[in-house]
Amino acid sequence: MSNFLRLGVNIDHVATIRNTRGGSHPDPVRAAQLAAEAGANSITAHLREDRRHILDNDITRINLEVDLPLNLEMAPTEEMLKIALEHKPFAVCMVPEKRRERTTEGGLDVVGGRGFLKDYVAQLADAGIRVSLFVEPELDQISTAAEIGAAVVELHTGKYCDAVPDAGSREKELLSISKAADFAQNIGIECHAGHGLGFDTVKPIAAIGVIKELNVGHFLIGEAVFLGLGNAIKHFRTLMNEARENIPER
Ligand code: PXP
Repeated sequence: MSNFLRLGVNIDHVATIRNTRGGSHPDPVRAAQLAAEAGANSITAHLREDRRHILDNDITRINLEVDLPLNLEMAPTEEMLKIALEHKPFAVCMVPEKRRERTTEGGLDVVGGRGFLKDYVAQLADAGIRVSLFVEPELDQISTAAEIGAAVVELHTGKYCDAVPDAGSREKELLSISKAADFAQNIGIECHAGHGLGFDTVKPIAAIGVIKELNVGHFLIGEAVFLGLGNAIKHFRTLMNEARENIPER
C-alpha cells in the first residue's frame, strides 16, 4: 500500500496538562497507548530544553511501554543529541526552538545551519535513527536537507492552517506545500507534514499523494476533551482516508 498516509500522534499536550499540577495525571504514556489502539502509526513527542511538557522519563517509558515507533522532536543542541543517542528512538525530527515561543514557530534554517546540521544528521543516522528536518515549504531548504543526508523533510503546515480560508491565502499556502512535496519526491527525500492540522484543514494536505506521514498533536488532544482521544484519532484517520481515495499511486 504505497499510497498509505501514516498518522503520527503528538502527545505533548497531555504532558502539558499533567505538568500544570506537577503530578502524574494525565499520563502521556497512557495517551500514547490509546493512540496505538485507535490506529496511530507512530507517537511523536517533543523534548524541549525547558521540559515544559514531555520529560526525560516520558521518553524512556514511551520506548518501553508503547508498541509504536517513537518520533522524537528535538532542537539541534548537544544536550538533545546526547539524549537521542542514548534513547535511540525510531526517528528524530529536528526543529528550531526558542524558549519563549508558544509552539514551534517556523521551520529550521537548514541553508544557514547546514554546516553543523550535517554533523547532527550524520551522528543520528549512524546510530540507525531516521532523521527528519522540519522546514518551511521552500525548495532551497528541502534541497539542502537532502544534500546533508536527511532521510525526510517535514513541511510546516502552520501558515496554511492559520491562513483565512476564503481569502485565497489558504490556497496559496496549499500550493506552496504541494509544490514543495513534489520537489522533495523528485529529489528523493521522503516528505511528511504537520503543525496546526485539524478536522477542517487535514483533507487538502492528505490529498497530496507524495506526503507519507502527518504529525498531529494540539488539535487532537484538545478535541479529546469533547470526543475522547480514541474517537478524535479515528475521525481524523477517516478524513485522511477519504482524502486519499481516488488519488493516483506514487
Ligand atoms: N510537527 C512538528 C515538527 C512539530 O514541532 C509539531 C508541534 O510540536 C507538530 C508537528 C504538531 O503540531 P500540532 O501540535 O500543532 O498538531
